[in-house]
Amino acid sequence: MPLADETATEQLGVTLAARLKPGDVVGLKGELGAGKTTLARAILHAASGDPKLVVPSPTFTLVEVYETKLGTIWHFDLYRLETPEQVFELGWEEALADGIVLVEWPERLGPLMPKHLSVILEVDGDGRRALLDV
Ligand SMILES: Nc1ncnc2c1ncn2[C@@H]1O[C@H](COP(=O)(O)OP(=O)(O)OP(=O)(O)O)[C@@H](O)[C@H]1O
Ligand SMILES: [Mg+2]
Repeated sequence: MPLADETATEQLGVTLAARLKPGDVVGLKGELGAGKTTLARAILHAASGDPKLVVPSPTFTLVEVYETKLGTIWHFDLYRLETPEQVFELGWEEALADGIVLVEWPERLGPLMPKHLSVILEVDGDGRRALLDV
């Protein structure tokens, strides 16, 4: 699906948030700057009903946790994960047990990545393209 500009990515986030429920895991794949955090932020804005909710990139913290109208949402950025097992130090089991889980760089988990809805973002000219596998 084409995402011509950031507004289109945000609209996709609204659409995805409308169908997410506790226990769901979403993998956000794509190269550096593909728009993974932009999409996660849009999901969190829609899920919280608060467009001003501050959603920093978890680049350095690796995980940020939010209470939303859909329940707890865990936003991981695993780019800097050194081994898949390191994810257990980030509350991974609790996240899977009680939350909606958004994962940037799901590749870093290898076989530890559970069954998930997959979104692949690609740069396409000035915009982006999304491939969804639900
Ligand atoms: N559909 C789009 N069209 C054009 N630009 C976009 C679109 N979606 C996001 N962007 C822009 O892409 C840039 C990078 O976005 P973002 O930080 O979300 O990428 P990322 O995939 O999370 O990167 P990283 O791998 O570093 O975490 C931002 O400047 C954002 O505004
Ligand atoms: Mg990011």
